[in-house]
Amino acid sequence: MAGKSVKVVVTGATGQVAYALLPRIAAGEMFGPDTEVDLRLSDIPQMIDKAKGVVMELEDGAYPLLARVTASSERSETHKDIDWALLVGSKPRGPGMERNDLIRENGPIFVAEGRAIAQYASPNVHIAVVGNPCNTNCLIAKHAAGSGIADDRWTAMTRLDQNRARAMLAAKAGARVRDVTKLVIWGNHSASLYPDFTNALVGGKRASDVVDRSWLESEYLTAIQQRGAVIIAARGASSAFSAAQALVDHVKSLVRGTDGDWASLAVVSDGSYDVPKGLVSSFPVTTSGNDGWQIVKGIQLDSFARAKVAATVAELEKERAVVQDLLAGAATR
Ligand code: LMR
Repeated sequence: MAGKSVKVVVTGATGQVAYALLPRIAAGEMFGPDTEVDLRLSDIPQMIDKAKGVVMELEDGAYPLLARVTASSERSETHKDIDWALLVGSKPRGPGMERNDLIRENGPIFVAEGRAIAQYASPNVHIAVVGNPCNTNCLIAKHAAGSGIADDRWTAMTRLDQNRARAMLAAKAGARVRDVTKLVIWGNHSASLYPDFTNALVGGKRASDVVDRSWLESEYLTAIQQRGAVIIAARGASSAFSAAQALVDHVKSLVRGTDGDWASLAVVSDGSYDVPKGLVSSFPVTTSGNDGWQIVKGIQLDSFARAKVAATVAELEKERAVVQDLLAGAATR
């Protein structure tokens, strides 16, 4: 018998990421085998009939941990007392686009999400933003919510990039993914992201002692930065189940801990590593589960790594400038 329960909203509930994600939440993969889930599917009014079909499928799964499942386009219903807001809903990018080309179109969605979270969610809510450009959308939602929700509740997803980085390094090194540790993403979920291979380990050895550093600095770096675009070109649609997997991992890190490794989490910067305070930027973090997260301190970044972190952070500052009007007016109802 389950001991705990969580109320969770998934936005963009009829999209491809959600379709891969929802059954996994219902099966207990995200919150664990002792936690019941009250799952709310949120989408725009035109999609609610389709969302009801997804609700039927979830019911038909007869998941023992799924206490309740509903769908609505009314945030007053879906966001009421939520413990978790998984903000997936947004327009995805198409071929030839960068994620921040979506910023003006998707930004207003996150103003609405931030306001709804402030108005309806539990004060202890946690937020994970997936819709792109996710770092800046998270910043927009946080501003829209005002000061009622603590800064450490707001996160955006760079775990997909971390998973990609681990898998590609493991393949090159002829190692298992589980042997690749302390490999995390810094900065933006964009073509400027930096997977810090300089501190990564493969089977406990420095990555650059196992594979060629010049490969890491060039081909590897570009492959991780461009992976989302390459998938869009190949599939004709953006990544879906790998994004769902990354979100399961993201939330699991927060609720069940990082178990001696580091996780990539885009969080509100406290000024660590010269990342301007308040920007939502990816850092290496550790958690012990359910009692918050900490940015790993004292990591040595060499001049290559420092330049890459500075470049991705500069891009985040540019994105912030582009949405200044949304941030300024955001908390006003
Ligand atoms: C990804 O990284 O695959 C997603 O953020 C989708 C995209 O636009 O690349």
